[in-house]
Amino acid sequence: MARSTASDNPAAAPRISPQGEYAKTAESGTAPGAYESGAPGAVFRVPPRQERGVRLVAEAYFPTLIFFSDLPDGPALNVSIKPAIYALRDADPEGIIRSNVAQAGSWHSSLDLADRPAFAGLVREIQAHAETLFAEIGYDPAFGPRIINMWANIHPRHGFNRSHTHPNVLWSGVYYVQSPPRAGRIIFRDPRAQAVASRAIYRSDRPTPPNGWSEVYYEPIEARLLLFPAWLEHEVEPNMSEWPSPAGDRISISFNVIQARRDEEGRR
Ligand SMILES: [Fe+2]
Repeated sequence: MARSTASDNPAAAPRISPQGEYAKTAESGTAPGAYESGAPGAVFRVPPRQERGVRLVAEAYFPTLIFFSDLPDGPALNVSIKPAIYALRDADPEGIIRSNVAQAGSWHSSLDLADRPAFAGLVREIQAHAETLFAEIGYDPAFGPRIINMWANIHPRHGFNRSHTHPNVLWSGVYYVQSPPRAGRIIFRDPRAQAVASRAIYRSDRPTPPNGWSEVYYEPIEARLLLFPAWLEHEVEPNMSEWPSPAGDRISISFNVIQARRDEEGRR
């Protein structure tokens, strides 16, 4: 079966192994495992191998789930969001410092974007996707997702984010507003600390299966929303776009989500 590439179908192949091989994807029907939604004791189950008279069944526990969605309304949303972000930077050029490397020009806005009308459309999209995620993975419906903070990032050429996690929250996410060519990918690291200590040697004539990866890369596709566990270590590569600012800026919006009782008044 032909292997799709990020360039010919970015929506179908966002995942790349450390070796640069494109992962098989659920969309192509060749994923090594599939999430069995709602099934009791659901696991990622790898199709059994039957060789040499041996039938070996593999079940993957403790899987790390990263969700993504390409927002149909994203391109239109971005048209209004982008000037709002630059207006925030004009009003607060220093921004705040978190994992963004200010020495490289990376700007991080204040954390209150979810309370600003210019971002209300995106907040609705994030909330809807988080609701779907919470239902998909079986959280208690008495608790819903609450966006407790949301901020913008502008990475001019060479801007990047150091490796980090998002403490004291449940899920985190990022939405891509503008990503010129070579804008820098987001890198997620294998959270299995013990697994990192024992590296196997994989066949060189086929892609390494995701279970053997030490990191995974996602391209910053405009209008794409990623949701990932807040504890999952990640960083952003330097923006190596050749385009001048502002077209060459990498612009994204990040946010944190907690699990909150639905009968409690929301507070960010
Ligand atoms: Fe982050």
